[in-house]
Amino acid sequence: MPTAGWWEALWPDPAGVLTAVGIKSGMEVIDLCSGDGWFTLQIAKIARHVVAIDIDQALLEVARTRLKESGVCNCEFLAGDAYQLASLASRPVDFVFMANAFHGVPDRPRLAGAVRDVLKPSGRFAIVNWHQPREQTTVLGEPRGPKTELRLSPAQTVEAVVAGGLKHLGTIEVPPYHYSALFERSGP
Ligand SMILES: C[S@@+](CC[C@H](N)C(=O)[O-])C[C@H]1O[C@@H](n2cnc3c(N)ncnc32)[C@H](O)[C@@H]1O
Repeated sequence: MPTAGWWEALWPDPAGVLTAVGIKSGMEVIDLCSGDGWFTLQIAKIARHVVAIDIDQALLEVARTRLKESGVCNCEFLAGDAYQLASLASRPVDFVFMANAFHGVPDRPRLAGAVRDVLKPSGRFAIVNWHQPREQTTVLGEPRGPKTELRLSPAQTVEAVVAGGLKHLGTIEVPPYHYSALFERSGP
């Protein structure tokens, strides 16, 4: 998780990002690799229920406190590995949201397959990734985010997720420095 301060400056409107990728009221959502809950809180304000999953229990506790202090209680916090998503979640969901984490996944088609397995029929998956290169993604006067060589182009992201069994619906810009690739589970 990046240090606080510039993250908030980069993402002044996390709810707007969620609306842009298609998260709607009434949905059951998983925030995968949820970190300290910057997006989780906003998802919980829109959706019926959200499950925050992260491998780092300490960050989950930060997220839990963030939501509690905001009086939001429709969220469950689960510590575990993203590959084990289907066994961590107790039921299929309408939407899996994953921000700023897909570039760090070693076996991306495997993760996409795990997401597919936890989605309801026609359920959706949104990945929010940094654009390349790092030198051009400046926040509060400094280049921020993962090294350029770790970042994925939209085409690389789509290729990996389609290989995992999901259908690509489109890719949108998430200004100023991100894009979101959108996918759907089609078929049984
Ligand atoms: C840069 S943070 C992004 C957090 C949040 N999605 C956001 O955009 O504010 C990446 C997160 O991925 C989590 N993570 C890394 N590997 C993971 C894994 N194998 N399973 C679950 N979470 C993982 C880290 O603990 C960290 O919280």
